[in-house]
Amino acid sequence: MTAPFRAADTPFAVEVMPGKEYFWCACGLSKNQPFCDGAHKTTDITPMKYTPSEKKTLYFCGCKATKNRPLCDGTHKKV
Ligand code: FES
Ligand code: FES
Repeated sequence: MTAPFRAADTPFAVEVMPGKEYFWCACGLSKNQPFCDGAHKTTDITPMKYTPSEKKTLYFCGCKATKNRPLCDGTHKKV
C-alpha cells in the first residue's frame, strides 16, 4: 500500500501542548486517529512527527489528502 486510506471525512480537533511530540497517522490505518498506532508497518508509509510551539486547538487531517500535513487544509471537501 502506497496511497493512504481515507480514515475520516473531516479533520480531528485536538488540543495540543507546546513541546510535546505528536505522530500524525499518514497511512490512515491507525485505530487511534489522528495519531499513529503502528498499523503503518504493513505499508510503505510512515507517520509524521509534529511538535507544536504553543498550546492551542489544531485540526489534524483525517482524510489524509491534505497538502499541509499534518493539518487540514480543506482538501477533504473536494475529494
Ligand atoms: Fe498510520 Fe502509523 S498507523 S502512520
Ligand atoms: Fe484532510 Fe481536511 S481532513 S484536508
